[in-house]
Parts: sequence; structure tokens; C-alpha cells
Amino acid sequence: MNAAAADTGERPFRLGVLVSGSGSNLQSIIDKLHHSSANIEIALVVSDNHKAQGLTRAAEAGISTAVFPMIDFEERLEHDLAMAAELERHEVELVVLAGYMMLVTPAFLDRFPYKVINLHPSLLPAFPGGSPIEDTMDYGARVTGVTVHYVDEGADTGPIILQEAVEIKYNDTVQSLRERIHEVEHRLLPRAIELIAGGRVSFDEENPRRVVLEDT
Ligand code: GAR
Repeated sequence: MNAAAADTGERPFRLGVLVSGSGSNLQSIIDKLHHSSANIEIALVVSDNHKAQGLTRAAEAGISTAVFPMIDFEERLEHDLAMAAELERHEVELVVLAGYMMLVTPAFLDRFPYKVINLHPSLLPAFPGGSPIEDTMDYGARVTGVTVHYVDEGADTGPIILQEAVEIKYNDTVQSLRERIHEVEHRLLPRAIELIAGGRVSFDEENPRRVVLEDT
């Protein structure tokens, strides 16, 4: 089964990117993929936060933006369905959670089956959740890393697409480790998107938890 393979025609593969804060990973997608030879386009950037710097980055690149603050909605379901409708209106083929700090609901995932991916700053399944870098340091781990994975109904539990390890140095602080993790993220996330857009990512038919990458 191909996961969100690219259209065969000239039309660029359309991304929706969800951000909550700084958006440095959004910037890496803009710099490496947006209107590149990979024939990929960011059709829409969505945030739950009016003040997200990612919105400014998108606007500066001429990309459409939309903001869906949770406070404007009575329920999470209503919020996610409104967000899904806007992404569908922009004919998005892959939804990328790039520093989006809210969980998405099953109803949202149903609208984009096998088409939502997340970036997480640890080697999953170790240290899922909202403060993985701090948790990794507190635990005393010596190696951490970056994971790009499909989103399923759990928290950081979906099938893994790409992972890369990052060594934790004895004199690391949360900030210094975060910076080195970011460097890896800025390579790994665009790479995963490019693979999916190129139709080179599929699932093992006998074990759909296992993602299969076509040789490049
Ligand atoms: C990234 O490190 C990403 O892995 C993390 O938020 C950061 C966003 O940075 N995501 C999570 O922790 C999701 N659980 P950015 O806004 O500069 O791209």
C-alpha cells in the first residue's frame, strides 16, 4: 500500500503544515522543498496560536495561513473538524505536524488516512509526550535522537518513517541538546516528506507497523 504517493502530473504535491511556535522546522521545509525541484508545495500553514513565529515565516514566504485557537471552539472535535475542512479546501495531500503541540483527534485522522506525520525530538518509543528533551536529560540517557512517524490514535505511537540518533554530551544543557536535535530535525523532516511525496514509502503487508522505504 502506498502512503500518500505523489500525483503523476505536473501539479506539485501539496502539504499542510501545522505549527505552534517558532517554526524552525517549517522554515527548513520552506528552504529545502517549497517550490523546489522535488515538485512540492506548502499549500497551507495552520496554527493553534496567533503568535506563532511559524505564521510569520509562512507569510514571508507567501504561503497561506490559518489560525484555529482552541479557545474559539467548545470542543476539540469541533476544532479539529474545522481545521480539517480548511486543509481539505486547500487540497492538501499530506499533513505535517512540525512542532504542533496539540494531539489531533481520531476524527481528524479519519479525514487524512495515512496522511498525517509528526516530528518528535526523541528516539521513540523512548520519551514520548510533551517534554521529551527534558525527560531524556533527567533520565540520564546518553543517546537520544529524532523520529519522524505516522500519527495514529495514540500519543507518539504511530509507525516510524525515519529516525536518527544524537549523542548526549556530559556537559549538555537542555538548550545545547535542543540545538543539536534541531540540526538533525531540519534534515530528517524534509527527507521524510520528499520520500512520501515521491511515493517511496509504503507499509509491510504482514506487519503494517513496519514502514518500508523504497531504495533511492
Ligand atoms: C521540534 O523540536 C519538534 O520536534 C518538537 O517541537 C519542536 C518545534 O520546533 N515537537 C514536539 O515536541 C512534539 N511532541 P520548531 O517550532 O522550531 O520547528
